[in-house]
Amino acid sequence: MHPIGDRIRSVSVTLGNARAPDQATRTFMVPRKIVSGTGSLGLLGTEAASLGTRALLVTGRNALRRAGALQQAVGFLRTAGVDVVQHSGVTPDPGVEQADEARDLARARNCDLVVGLGGGSALDVAKAAAGMMHHDASVGVVQRGEEQGRPGVPFIAVPTTAGTGSEMTRNAVLTDAEKQIKASARSDHWIAAVAIVDPALLVTLTPSLTASSGMDAFTHATESLLSSGATPVTEALALRSAQLLAAALPVAYRNGKDRDARSDCAIGSLTAALAFANSGLGAVHGFVHPIGALHHVSHGVACSILLPHVLRFNADAVKDKLDQLGAALGITARPAGDQVAARVRRMAREVGLPQRLRDVGITEESLERIADGTVGSSSLKYNPRKASRDDLLAILREAF
Ligand SMILES: [Fe+2]
Repeated sequence: MHPIGDRIRSVSVTLGNARAPDQATRTFMVPRKIVSGTGSLGLLGTEAASLGTRALLVTGRNALRRAGALQQAVGFLRTAGVDVVQHSGVTPDPGVEQADEARDLARARNCDLVVGLGGGSALDVAKAAAGMMHHDASVGVVQRGEEQGRPGVPFIAVPTTAGTGSEMTRNAVLTDAEKQIKASARSDHWIAAVAIVDPALLVTLTPSLTASSGMDAFTHATESLLSSGATPVTEALALRSAQLLAAALPVAYRNGKDRDARSDCAIGSLTAALAFANSGLGAVHGFVHPIGALHHVSHGVACSILLPHVLRFNADAVKDKLDQLGAALGITARPAGDQVAARVRRMAREVGLPQRLRDVGITEESLERIADGTVGSSSLKYNPRKASRDDLLAILREAF
């Protein structure tokens, strides 16, 4: 049992001036416990039994493909004396109603714990369901900022992709189908009690999912490093993450069974998420939510296409940090900005991802709508260079 107590959901450390909150005060929040390493799924039962007695187990629609992992998870839970209520079939880009449905099932079956096993969509639905357990209203009220989240039941996150970082964040990205928006619902109370990051779960990931989730993670590392909300703590995590992912992702893409590369991707994704969850992101993530809502383009693919263009836009505002990133990636030119952008494009090519927005079904006519949807996004606020709607449109045209 954790020394701080059984029911404390997260640990926060306040950095900076401790006397009174001001601009120099930063908060760093992490899950209470992060368990990682090959075979760490085996600890799911023990961790769950320390937190509850009946778990809602939330998985995505590909759960059958990963039947081995699902059966193992159910087995570990039951062996430890935890009842399991299965909730499968979370779809990509899940809507608010999917989180409400999971929460309603957990309440109806008296679950006192939620386990999410899957990619970002399954984890986000599980996280919101756990967080909303003591609310009667839809998760939409938290997403729209009408109500603060409050403590729900403990949430255990078990990612089966290395990219989204949902296991480290307090956010659940959900689609409001009526308004055609994709937005984060977030609460400090929603951070996982335990995150279990087992690289062995990544071995069955297809090359294309390895590529898109890996480039999402690399974008998290880069945007976090350059974010106006970055701190020395998040910068250290982001730099190491970018270094690990740049080296390991092409290897994991070519050979999914390479355990060292899978492990580095898992740790790279985890550290990137710890960084961005506490620093904010930037314009790339501002763009990708409206793109996802309007065109259903994979989040990681859209990140991968836009990152080099946003890097060039930001370059003059973050010269020193781009030089640091260049050094971490083995780039010797100074300033390193152009070469870092070129390196990102090369990485994307190496892992078979498209280079232009037009290659993924985005039409020229929709660029204006994407720019409109980006202007108010929360990620854009952390972009190191202020970007007007015209700037955003110019970046989109360059990437088109
Ligand atoms: Fe992302």
